[in-house]
Amino acid sequence: MKIVVIGGTGLIGSKLVKKLREHGQEVVAASPSSGVNSLTGEGLADALKGASVAVDVTNSPSWEDAAVLKFFETSTRNLLNYEGAAAVGHHVALSVVGTERLIESGFFRAKLVQENLIKASSISYSIVRATQFFEFVKNIADFSTEGNKVRLPPALFQPMAADDVASAIRRIALSSPVNDTVEIGGPERFRLDELIRRDLAALKDPREVVSDPHARYFGIAVSERTLLPKDGAPLGETRFEDWLSHATKQLPHLQPA
Ligand SMILES: NC(=O)c1ccc[n+]([C@@H]2O[C@H](COP(=O)([O-])OP(=O)(O)OC[C@H]3O[C@@H](n4cnc5c(N)ncnc54)[C@H](OP(=O)(O)O)[C@@H]3O)[C@@H](O)[C@H]2O)c1
Repeated sequence: MKIVVIGGTGLIGSKLVKKLREHGQEVVAASPSSGVNSLTGEGLADALKGASVAVDVTNSPSWEDAAVLKFFETSTRNLLNYEGAAAVGHHVALSVVGTERLIESGFFRAKLVQENLIKASSISYSIVRATQFFEFVKNIADFSTEGNKVRLPPALFQPMAADDVASAIRRIALSSPVNDTVEIGGPERFRLDELIRRDLAALKDPREVVSDPHARYFGIAVSERTLLPKDGAPLGETRFEDWLSHATKQLPHLQPA
């Protein structure tokens, strides 16, 4: 079975390509660096020729409102058109848990457009909505930093390791299309402010995390459960502390001399 991973060089894409190849699948890791561009359509016809499954794990290089909307709308239309022409049987796309509750942000409005285009197309699909990746936690702190303070709401938060996201997508890509949305999350539930405090402490980052119920998440007002996956969602295995201790061991400046 030939599987095309569009965005195959990214954080999730590169892990997914490796897992699929380890499983014996024929995989094309498609991205602009290999001459495949979902925004312009360049290289898509060749890449998709003979493919049974296409997995979209791309991300927009710019998160500015108009740019991110153009990216997800145009890329998704192109992918679905070229997949239709190549008779691809299963379109798998990665989205974000809570997308419809986060549309105060242009990024999530664009993800919702992506999801709706997929649902309206004639191609069988599986939309996988994941919670935030552990690898993304520091970006949340960076976005919410003013001076030396990181202001965050104590919303419930259930992030997961990128590796577990890739494993879940591998399983779904090798199964029949669900023609629906599947949510996945991490094995533990935290308060957002508390988790960021733990992450920054482990990184010896001197910023102070301030708990503020009125603070926003990426500029979005969130309530206690906005970021949580549905009850009963399949959960990744990797625990945050285990991931964090492994991740900090890779950072030479955090090791004793
Ligand atoms: N961050 C989170 O916590 C989170 C949570 C849930 C879901 N998600 C979703 O997960 C998805 C993947 O995220 P990620 O962090 O793995 O992304 P990433 O590391 O930024 O990788 C993005 C990939 O998209 C490719 N790409 C960019 N422009 C392209 C184009 N015009 N044509 C084809 N490929 C293009 C990149 O190729 P190059 O390497 O050549 O640039 C790269 O392979 C996103 O859609 C995001 O919404 C994220």
